[in-house]
Amino acid sequence: MLRQIDAARLPRHVAIIMDGNGRWARNRHLPRVAGHRAGISSVRAAVETAARLHLPALTLYAFSTENWKRPESETSFLMRLLRRYLRDELSELQENNIRLQAIGRISELPEAVRDELRSTCQATASNTGTVLSLALNYSGRTELVDTFRLLAERVRRGELAPEAIDEQLIGAGLFTRGLPDPDLLIRTSGELRLSNFLLWQIAYAELWVTNTLWPDFRAKHFYQAILDFQSRDRRFGGLSDEPHAE
Ligand code: FPP
Repeated sequence: MLRQIDAARLPRHVAIIMDGNGRWARNRHLPRVAGHRAGISSVRAAVETAARLHLPALTLYAFSTENWKRPESETSFLMRLLRRYLRDELSELQENNIRLQAIGRISELPEAVRDELRSTCQATASNTGTVLSLALNYSGRTELVDTFRLLAERVRRGELAPEAIDEQLIGAGLFTRGLPDPDLLIRTSGELRLSNFLLWQIAYAELWVTNTLWPDFRAKHFYQAILDFQSRDRRFGGLSDEPHAE
């Protein structure tokens, strides 16, 4: 499958909604958290694949602002798992030249997680390969609220005219500033929802949904998604390059 991929038409940014950990565990009569633990191997596979393909950006939806509604035992497990991931994967991130960043309301995460994030982000800050963004305590709507508040504040101080607010300025206020918008959004476990993920940035993303549950997601699924993406006719609201009848 890798050989079929056209290296000249790769997505510049792939975003993934990692879903189905709970169902994967239930199917095996295991506690839900076993699904999250198993999902780490899929995170590793996705990161390695993005690096192998030299994708400029990969964004993973790891924890939404809504995920705090889950039982405390599950949210604290996810926070511990995240810390362990950051500690255990540093050498892997370095070998793959990955630059890690976190997007979301990071200041509201537990201090131990923030410390681990800060040190892993700093350690990988000069890497020049794929930018791996972990969306943590993230929601697309809160990201837009935060961005609009900052712009409103600049208008209030007289530094910015309302007419000067355009798509570029809003994009520059988002957590994903500096990254291209996702070309491809992958969701596992078959759900046909966006779940408040990168709402502004995915305006023209191609969507690819697989029934595969996240802990079963491997490089071959990533390749499938990219091959499907490369078969799409992306028009961005215009017309395709095919000849058109007048
Ligand atoms: C959705 O499955 C998954 C999550 C809410 C957490 C995602 C976390 C991981 C993949 C592991 C940790 C990640 C990192 C980057 C360290 P779900 O629990 O909603 O599954 P369900 O819909 O089947 O219940």
